[in-house]
Amino acid sequence: MAATPPNELVSVGEVLISAEELQKKVSELGAQVSRDYAGKDLVMVGVLRGAVVFIADLLRNLTVPCEIDFMAVSSYGSSRDSSGVVRILKDLDDSIEGRDVLIVEDIVDSGLTLNYLIRNLQARDPASLEVCTLLTKPERRRVDVPIRYTGFEIPNEFVVGYGLDFGQRYRNLDHVALLPEDAVPGR
Ligand code: PRP
Repeated sequence: MAATPPNELVSVGEVLISAEELQKKVSELGAQVSRDYAGKDLVMVGVLRGAVVFIADLLRNLTVPCEIDFMAVSSYGSSRDSSGVVRILKDLDDSIEGRDVLIVEDIVDSGLTLNYLIRNLQARDPASLEVCTLLTKPERRRVDVPIRYTGFEIPNEFVVGYGLDFGQRYRNLDHVALLPEDAVPGR
């Protein structure tokens, strides 16, 4: 008899957003973006690494032409308490001048990363610049950022899965789970 494959994922905490709920929401967001960007020159900018799963699914729910590009940024200081000082680790490959840019994030927490990205990308003269995030934690916000499309507002809990990590793990979960408090140092 074949042994059951090891599955570290069963040991993660309670499911906050199921795979089905995620897929339903991503399909709704895809329909909305498709309506809003009909006849435009859409470039979706995924913010590495967390947004890869979301942007890949969102892309497949679009019915309008679109390109994707990626940026990687890192905030100085600990990842759970960003300082607001952001460093570009990987820049866009192509110019966004005159194009309709949609930043795609997995989560907006303090808003500091997004605040930096918006200012940085706006300076490159896109025709338009909007934000789509799968998750937002309004309680954690330190700076107000304009978000056009939001998947889910979530409480101030540490979450993993569907692109979100803890120590680079758990991104491969097909759902969003709460990480048990005893797994998060300093809580
Ligand atoms: C997360 C997320 C955002 C940022 C949000 O990235 O993808 O980019 O934090 O936090 P803020 O609103 O407080 O600035 P993270 O630094 O965890 O990197 P990752 O995407 O590679 O996991």
